[in-house]
Amino acid sequence: MRAYDLILKKRDNNELNKKEIDFLIKGFTQGEIPDYQISALAMAIYFNGMNEREIADLTMAMAESGDQIDLSKVEGIIVDKHSTGGVGDTTSLVLIPLVAAAGVPVAKMSGRGLGHTGGTIDKLESIPNFKTNLSRDTFINNINEINAAIAGQSGNLTPADKKLYSLRDVTATVDSIPLIASSIMSKKIAGGADGIVLDVKLGSGAFMKDIKEAEKLAEIMVNIGEKLNKKTIAVLTDMEQPLGKAVGNNLEVIEAVNTLKDQGPLDLREICLTLGANMLLIAEKVDSFKKGYELLEDKLKGGEAFDKFKELVEKQGGDLRYIENTDKFKKSQNRWELKADKNGFLVQLKAINIGLAAMLVGAGRATKSDEILNEVGVILHKKYGNRIAKGDKIATLHYNKNDDNFAEAVQKLKDSYLIENKVIKPRDLIYKIIK
Ligand code: URA
Ligand code: CA
Repeated sequence: MRAYDLILKKRDNNELNKKEIDFLIKGFTQGEIPDYQISALAMAIYFNGMNEREIADLTMAMAESGDQIDLSKVEGIIVDKHSTGGVGDTTSLVLIPLVAAAGVPVAKMSGRGLGHTGGTIDKLESIPNFKTNLSRDTFINNINEINAAIAGQSGNLTPADKKLYSLRDVTATVDSIPLIASSIMSKKIAGGADGIVLDVKLGSGAFMKDIKEAEKLAEIMVNIGEKLNKKTIAVLTDMEQPLGKAVGNNLEVIEAVNTLKDQGPLDLREICLTLGANMLLIAEKVDSFKKGYELLEDKLKGGEAFDKFKELVEKQGGDLRYIENTDKFKKSQNRWELKADKNGFLVQLKAINIGLAAMLVGAGRATKSDEILNEVGVILHKKYGNRIAKGDKIATLHYNKNDDNFAEAVQKLKDSYLIENKVIKPRDLIYKIIK
């Protein structure tokens, strides 16, 4: 078999069989097939796509490219959650303790963010001393003891995905449904959970801009999950505007704490309850969505979800004083206010621009080696559909002095919103649930 012939085959829009896919992924992982050939293959897949059988085979080939975690020592049905990625998506920080507080074990493997904002691991590490490089044994013990653990992706989990993603990132082949679906699902399969809830984001701040495309991605991932014996549910959620009000590591941890105390933004609360209720369903903790939703609402109102977060922070070495008093978090040196230039209604608040503004002042990474500044970011004061009076604060940029990117960040924020003199109905938050 030669990589050349397989690239040609895909370029000419033919199907690759399992043996051929295994050959490509194994050769790539072991360094025998060079980056330029796999880049060409990725572009051929971008244009010609893959059928579901090919995507499932690609998923398994990548899942098997490195270690696979055995979670059989954890009692109960373990559910994982994954988001396709958005701007300032604080969901995991809330969801993990919330679901754990309802008695369902959560084993979360998370990545670092590349792009607008930090990933869940980056956000948690903004809590002083919080450790995310847990050994396999500690990871499993913590789940057995407190129902929750969160760890950075270990060295050798899905190395094929790691290598492929870094090529896609620089060859304009990230936003391809077969490549996204196999990338996400391979990590979930290797991560060892019994069931998966997927948050498929849709809108300006997401990979999928179009509902048809997002639906297709969601359906394919659910089908792959079923094929590989993992119960999978996908929830299509809005990412046209950012979720919640905070973007940036410290700001989002504070937002998560508020939400866990049931004093957070309602859109973030709603998405966490919806995703969480589906996790409880998969774990067979409840027999209906409604019961799951109500159980989780009780855990928010009763304080158990917040207590579980504190337990998790303490268990992983984090400084609890910051969680008990979020004023302790370091603050940015400066603030700049985006103010409305006229009266009307907010008819646009583009997540992508807000994400880029946050990244420009240091809340995200432009390249892999960039360091994130925990204290910077954006706080939104208005959301889509809100009535606005001239001079109202729409957003606050938290930045440090002498930031060379400040002017560009301000321009991104100015370009993010639109005020018109018409009432619009609020955006749907949840479009569809696919099982
Ligand atoms: N998230 C992933 O893990 N992989 C992708 O390809 C896209 C989003
Ligand atoms: Ca947020």
